Amino acid sequence: MHREMTGQNNNPLPDWDTLTFSLTETDCMYRSLGDTEREPVWDEGEFIPFQDIKISPAAALMSYGVGVFEGLKAQRTTDGRILLFRPDANAARMRNSAERLMMHPFPSEQFIDSCVAVVRRNERFIPPPEYGSLYLRPMQHAVEPQLGLGPCRHFTTHIFCSPVGSYFRGGSPQGVRLKVLEQGRVAPGGTGSAKAMGNYAGAIWVAQQWKDQGFDDVLYLDAHHLQYLTETSGSNPFVLLKSGALVTPPLDSQILPGVTRDSTLRIARDLLNLDVQERALSIQEVLEEGEEMFCTGTAWTLLNVREVVHKDEVKLLEKDDLRMELLEILRGIQTGEREDPFDWIREV
Ligand SMILES: Cc1ncc(COP(=O)(O)O)c(C=O)c1O
Repeated sequence: MHREMTGQNNNPLPDWDTLTFSLTETDCMYRSLGDTEREPVWDEGEFIPFQDIKISPAAALMSYGVGVFEGLKAQRTTDGRILLFRPDANAARMRNSAERLMMHPFPSEQFIDSCVAVVRRNERFIPPPEYGSLYLRPMQHAVEPQLGLGPCRHFTTHIFCSPVGSYFRGGSPQGVRLKVLEQGRVAPGGTGSAKAMGNYAGAIWVAQQWKDQGFDDVLYLDAHHLQYLTETSGSNPFVLLKSGALVTPPLDSQILPGVTRDSTLRIARDLLNLDVQERALSIQEVLEEGEEMFCTGTAWTLLNVREVVHKDEVKLLEKDDLRMELLEILRGIQTGEREDPFDWIREV
């Protein structure tokens, strides 16, 4: 059981027609406090109006970036139900991310229950079907005032939400343009497989250099060989080769294990019986053998890549058939229009 909400915002709804991937302040968020010197470590949590939070300037998160986060979506269906997509997968990933940063993990069941409750309490902010979804942002931070670098004892978990539209609104419907970078997004053995705050902080500047030149995002090569695809700023790449194989880089310490990546793999393997390979994929192979390319992510969904630029070489990828087929199945499951053979949907 959760403590009851004290007070409630009455924030205005956004204009559904012009919804983008940006913040709309909603009515209610969730907060739980963790203290490793008590049992259970995490309190039951409370629902409070969406608001600024108070934090010590000496909190470990403020200097050292000891924080992790998640992103998942709830969807309104045409028959009036509300569906969450794979909240258990996000709960598990947040636990892994927290452990990588030496934070006490948040219980999965409490994560899922709280996500469901946050969606219910902000129900009026869920866009009508076809207009977008309600994006949930669970986060865990080390809030202990601490000057030196070391493990922490005090943590918070917050979950807030915002209605969102598509990530690249107004972007080319033909797909995104990616600049291939001869640099890693994270270090081998670093925090790349965790959804850690610090991974994103440094990447903003990198991507912005190329966005200013008309690219939609960057595609990082592996930090060690500067040869193999890893991921973009916020999505996992897939390439369909001339041979008919659908290839995506294997999970390692430089790649975030995307929930959409995993869902795409399952659909491609189990429903479409495709030749799917999780293996090292060099940029050279993409340039020579690539036929179709797309990137997957909760915010990105499945987005077609129409062009990759590596050094002076421009590779156009005009095909978009497989992505459309995969996306139709995935969207069908997420929106309740299609049977869910994988047990991914959690009805709110
Ligand atoms: C770096 C990075 N890679 C991949 C993804 C895709 O993950 P998911 O499909 O779980 O959203 C994300 C988004 O969370 C990301 O930030």
